Amino acid sequence: MEVKTSLLDNMIGVSDMVLLEPLTEDSFLENLRKRFDHNEIYTYIGSVVISMNPYRSLPIYTPDKVEEYRNRNFYELSPHIYALADEAYRSLRDQDKDQCILITGESGAGKTEASKLVMSYVAAVCGKGQEVNKVKEQLLQSNPVLEAFGNAKTVRNDNSSRFGKYMDIEFDFKGDPLGGVISNYLLEKSRVVKQPRGERNFHIFYQLLSGASDDTLKKLKLDRDFSKFNYLSLDSAAVNGLDDAANFRTVRNAMQIVGFMEDEVQSVLELVAAVLKLGNIEFKPESRCNGNDESRIKDKNDLKEMCELLGIEQSVLERAFSYRTVEAKLEKVSTTLNVAQAYYARDALAKNLYSRLFSWLVTRINESIKAQTKSRHKVMGVLDIYGFEIFEDNSFEQFIINYCNEKLQQIFIELTLREEQEEYVREGIEWTNIEYFNNAIICDLIENNQNGILAMLDEECLRPGTVTDETFLDKLNTICAKHQHFESRLSKNSKFLTDHSLPHSCFRIQHYAGKVLYQVEGFVDKNNDLLYRDLSQAMYKATHSLIKQLFPEGNPAKVNLKRPPTAGFQFRASVGTLMKNLKTKNPNYIRCIKPNEKKASHIFTESLVRHQVRYLGLMENVRVRRAGYAFRQLYEPCLERYKMLCKRTWPHWKGPAREGVEVLMGDLQIPTEEYSYGRSKIFIRNPRTLFSLEERRRECLQDLATLIQKIYRGWKCRRQFLLMKKSQIVVAAWYRRFAQQKKYKKIKSATTVVQSYTRGWQARKLLRELKYQKRCEEAATTISAYWHGTQARRELRRLKEEARRKHAVAVIWAYWQGLKVRREYRKFFRANAGKKIYDFTIQRIMQKYFLSLKSNMPSMSPVDNKWPNRPYLFLDGVHKELRRIFHHWRCKKYRNQFTEERKTVYEEKLEASEIFKDKKALYPSSVNQPFKGDYLEISKNPKYQKLSSAMDEKVLLADVVNKINRANGKGTARIFLLTKKSVVLADQKTGQVKTSVPLPDLDSVSVSTQSDGFFALKLKEGSASAIKGDFLLSSEHLIEIITKLHRTGAMAADREQLNIDISDEFLVQFKQDKVCVKFIQGVSKNGNNASCKRKNNRLLEVLVPSSA
Ligand SMILES: Nc1ncnc2c1ncn2[C@@H]1O[C@H](COP(=O)(O)OP(=O)(O)OP(=O)(O)O)[C@@H](O)[C@H]1O
Ligand SMILES: [Mg+2]
Repeated sequence: MEVKTSLLDNMIGVSDMVLLEPLTEDSFLENLRKRFDHNEIYTYIGSVVISMNPYRSLPIYTPDKVEEYRNRNFYELSPHIYALADEAYRSLRDQDKDQCILITGESGAGKTEASKLVMSYVAAVCGKGQEVNKVKEQLLQSNPVLEAFGNAKTVRNDNSSRFGKYMDIEFDFKGDPLGGVISNYLLEKSRVVKQPRGERNFHIFYQLLSGASDDTLKKLKLDRDFSKFNYLSLDSAAVNGLDDAANFRTVRNAMQIVGFMEDEVQSVLELVAAVLKLGNIEFKPESRCNGNDESRIKDKNDLKEMCELLGIEQSVLERAFSYRTVEAKLEKVSTTLNVAQAYYARDALAKNLYSRLFSWLVTRINESIKAQTKSRHKVMGVLDIYGFEIFEDNSFEQFIINYCNEKLQQIFIELTLREEQEEYVREGIEWTNIEYFNNAIICDLIENNQNGILAMLDEECLRPGTVTDETFLDKLNTICAKHQHFESRLSKNSKFLTDHSLPHSCFRIQHYAGKVLYQVEGFVDKNNDLLYRDLSQAMYKATHSLIKQLFPEGNPAKVNLKRPPTAGFQFRASVGTLMKNLKTKNPNYIRCIKPNEKKASHIFTESLVRHQVRYLGLMENVRVRRAGYAFRQLYEPCLERYKMLCKRTWPHWKGPAREGVEVLMGDLQIPTEEYSYGRSKIFIRNPRTLFSLEERRRECLQDLATLIQKIYRGWKCRRQFLLMKKSQIVVAAWYRRFAQQKKYKKIKSATTVVQSYTRGWQARKLLRELKYQKRCEEAATTISAYWHGTQARRELRRLKEEARRKHAVAVIWAYWQGLKVRREYRKFFRANAGKKIYDFTIQRIMQKYFLSLKSNMPSMSPVDNKWPNRPYLFLDGVHKELRRIFHHWRCKKYRNQFTEERKTVYEEKLEASEIFKDKKALYPSSVNQPFKGDYLEISKNPKYQKLSSAMDEKVLLADVVNKINRANGKGTARIFLLTKKSVVLADQKTGQVKTSVPLPDLDSVSVSTQSDGFFALKLKEGSASAIKGDFLLSSEHLIEIITKLHRTGAMAADREQLNIDISDEFLVQFKQDKVCVKFIQGVSKNGNNASCKRKNNRLLEVLVPSSA
């Protein structure tokens, strides 16, 4: 839960001066001192923040602090600049109100620091992201650059802003920064050429000389020694706590981050160096014939170096320091300058150069940081302007600065009151006007268009004739004499005639912050701010690009005879614009107070602070704030803070917050005139009422704390008790469980023991019984076995006895019978018994033989060679005979199964066997081959239809044979046909009959003894067929062909038997020649087939592969 706090918590003194009681200047100062002593440097007056300069760093700007103040209400936490920054940022972001933060206070009061704190806070809380961070970084880094060039050490402040700065930070609708615009106001340029005692020139000169590298200094033609430069005051060149060298590095780095190019940085440094060089140019008088002194440059070395730096022709500049040309309409008049005028011209150039460089820097930074988008921006302006200052010698610059502060004071008064009044109207509270000192009258004295001091000065500057500071003072003396805030010795107001604190050359103004005496000397000059045209033209001629830009009026083509606006006029105009701008925004005030003049921490100089409190009008501010109601608060936080004071609102109020507050106030019996109800806030008139509320709240909080403590303690004890109770139950449960488990285990083990004993006893008992039973059974078995054994043995003995007796009886009977037979047949035995016994024995043996033969008969296959063994030798003949008979008989049986065709086949096979067996080696391979006869299926094959029809007899054999050509021994395929009457050779392809040889013409057939298929058909000499000669043929079916040829011849009764000649050499009659055909064994080229080769005219050699 978020803890609501208030600035009223733990406050030191009073955080908001409005609540100060009693309200006197002393109590005000006392409160400030008390808070300052406790490092509480911030105090509120309503929404205004008073900031005391602590002159030391406090740990209150850490990131944690930023987080603490982020998104918190203004009065929620103790006063802090972050609270104001947060309030401004949130109302800008959430309510779309443009804001401005006005930081005022005298020099050294902490304005610049405050402005940086505001910027860094806003940077820390606004959006994040690469682009946003870059913008933030550029905005923040613009500060060191401008401070280096625009700040200087003064007697009042080591880092005194010598220019006014107003920065508009632009945000988008989300509150992310987009960019910014910086406006600068009147730089105190006189400081460039002259510094009051104890003060320094602008920081950058010292930083450059201390921090730049030797190389850079050499390039810039500078010497590190400060004493070598006229423009640098020496008495305070080194400032305590200021590290110029380190700051130089910071500035260079910042310039880089802001977006300066390297050559731009170089140009800027060259200009700074040029200013230093310019200061070293000195003049000497040179008498002219007309009696006037004319100035001449003493030592031209510095001039030369400066001209080199800026790229200016030395003679041009030299002339510009000696002459002055005045142009009036068509005339050009050139006058010489004396030494004083030359120094004036030199210093004017240095001042202009530096102040224009400063303005250029601001423009350049603006270029970098300007918002990139054109969309509508929300704007937060931060104004850090030089503070009100009173020096010993106050000149035109102080006058301008103090005028500016006067204007700011006015806007503060106006806006504070207006805001206050508006709030009352907004909230519907009655309002009566409050009197306060309005410094409008002083502003009017300075800026009035007719008779204001600035108008007077301008008038004087523009007036023809001799114009001096004195004539200006005279004018003031006449015109402003009656003004109650203007004082002058020579004025017609006799009051000051005898005032010796007021010198003749001065006038005094009673500013809101005190009286300031202004030296009138230099007012006219500074207001004119003149730079001789010759000098600006000389600058324009420079080749250095930056310097040319800075002096555009030096362009001869743009000669402008109109006087430029005066410094005072310009300043008044820019302040006027600034005021208008500020009035359009919601103001937030930071009023800085300087605690002492020594720039020391922990010192609170009461008189100094009192003075500031007075002129800042802080007391009036508090009074105005309290005139109506001292304190106001929104209903919700008010009810939240005090609800414990009333039972009805504590702890929760259900209705609207306003009603809750009404109930609360009624209950507390606070007089009704002490408060008023606005629309959204309650207004409390008197701080006392608030404090009494706070007091009651504190008491009540104590009671509440006790109550909370009581309830908490009770709750804690109860919780502890409940926890212990719960724990006890758990422990008891666990213990009981454990105890029961133990008991159970014990009982279980006892039971197991008892059980085991019982079971053991029972088992043993059973075992005993069973053993007894078994023993009984065994005994019975043994007894019965013995009994049966006895019985059996007895029976065996009996049977044996019986068998012995039977045997004995049989033996006796046999002997008896034998005896009887022998006795009976003794008389016949010798004559017949031997033969009978022999016959009987033979008969018996034969019977046995036949019976065993019958049962061991071999199979019916004619090729089965098995036959039982012969039992007796005397049966040898019978046995063989029986075997032969049996074989014949089974052959017969086998043959009887044959058909006629099969019979023929066997007959042919038989015949083949008779012809060839053991005569030709081819024969054994033919035994298994059936004789198919018609291999060509001649009658069925349509190819041989013609040939078949040509045959008048039945074809006994048709096969393809090779007819051997005697010329080369090669074969020609021929169809070989055999019928009962002839042998026909026909063409294999066409089936055309080539030769037909009637069988009677065949004389013989010759074949070899070997395994070839060659055969020669020899024709009878003188027969008709013999003319053609014998045929030498070869066939795979040789055996079949020859057998069939032989058989056909055998069956024909009219013919002679065909001779078959089997030899390895025979003659063949080819037409006329007789050729010998010789068969030899060897390796044939036809592989396993025999091949025929013609050896010579008379010899054909047939190579038969050996069958092995
Ligand atoms: N909040 C702060 N915490 C610590 N030191 C501070 C603080 N404010 C100011 N200072 C110290 O006071 C010095 C002067 O402050 P600063 O430069 O802000 O004054 P100023 O009001 O801007 O003066 P001027 O009008 O001369 O520019 C700073 O250099 C710093 O040392
Ligand atoms: Mg400052």
